[in-house]
Amino acid sequence: MADGTVYDFGSGCTNPETFPVQGLADAAARAITTVGEDFTRYPGDLGHAGLRQVLAARETEREGVEVSADHIALTNGSMQGVTLVAEALMAADGKPDIVVCEELTYSGTIGAYRRLGLRLEGVALDEDGMIPADLERVMESLHTAGTPPRFLYTLSTYQNPTGSVMPRARRLEIIAIARRFAVPIVEDNCYADVHFDGDKQPSLYALDPDGTDHIYLCSLSKILGPGVREGYIHARPPMLARLLDRRFDGGNSLLTASVLAEFFRHRLWDHCAEMNAALQQKRDAVLVGLEATVSDLCTWSRPAGGLFIWVTLPDDVDLDHLLQLTTERGVRCARGRSFHIHDTDVPNIRLAFGQPTVAAINAGIPILGECIRAACSGEARANAAG
Ligand SMILES: Cc1ncc(COP(=O)(O)O)c(C=O)c1O
Repeated sequence: MADGTVYDFGSGCTNPETFPVQGLADAAARAITTVGEDFTRYPGDLGHAGLRQVLAARETEREGVEVSADHIALTNGSMQGVTLVAEALMAADGKPDIVVCEELTYSGTIGAYRRLGLRLEGVALDEDGMIPADLERVMESLHTAGTPPRFLYTLSTYQNPTGSVMPRARRLEIIAIARRFAVPIVEDNCYADVHFDGDKQPSLYALDPDGTDHIYLCSLSKILGPGVREGYIHARPPMLARLLDRRFDGGNSLLTASVLAEFFRHRLWDHCAEMNAALQQKRDAVLVGLEATVSDLCTWSRPAGGLFIWVTLPDDVDLDHLLQLTTERGVRCARGRSFHIHDTDVPNIRLAFGQPTVAAINAGIPILGECIRAACSGEARANAAG
């Protein structure tokens, strides 16, 4: 890589080796012929009907609840959904625009919401995701201050960066709290089908069939690639109309959507299975490498899905020094601080395992281990040894 990176554990992109080049090329030829002169017209706010049907079937199959293609709007990645929601739910009522979210969350969302002028209020999280008692505390205090949040943004499945999955009982608690405070839930579920092992948990919207305020964001970035820029919003009317009222882009590319519809119509799950098998090998390679090199110093998550392993470093690690060493040795990883809503330093790094090959993982994790060891003071090593 031009920046000197040899071992890329920084990028949250998915597995390149299973990108279906030929399948998409064939699908493109068929789709372009079929759509033909319709490309001379705008796709509309919802977008290509065929892809919406494929995505509604994806949701129905995974969640076991009926999802209507009429309640899906295609977006430019899920990121367009993230910002569209914020713009639609902000209000010019003289009060601050506040969003409640996990205190560690996706850096892209943190950056976008800050730039849009939203204030982020964090909820503590543990290995099961957002902690209901802390959510209740945050909601209560905002309510008492007369500044209720505009919405609750949550990554309940394969959380970015921690990899946690919220158990069903906790999901129901979160839904109940949001309902009690009349706050819409925005569920960002872009890792939904990147699943390796363990039980699958239902999405919040599937557990809340009467939740008319519920907004669900998903994407094809993590099962195909962010280069295709295809995501979607699922929401019921009138919420869907409220969101689309902020849409001024003429709609989502009919060219991309028609090709993806053609490609995924009959092979969505086969494709996911192939990709997940490859990603699981990569996850396991990282886990084995960490065990072999830093088990006396660090702890880490063992994610059942998603693309990230969250490593907890010894408290006395010198993070600046660590990042300097890793950069010098061609290893890229993400500093925990970039995922903290207040930019607070935390003794963590996020390792993304989608992009490097298994060989690069096997070579890179020991180097990372050496860097971690060198960035920890002797005291940490002595304690670990003792
Ligand atoms: C939680 C979360 N939401 C949204 C995105 C943006 O994805 P997309 O490429 O679909 O816009 C990412 C990308 O890493 C993410 O982790």
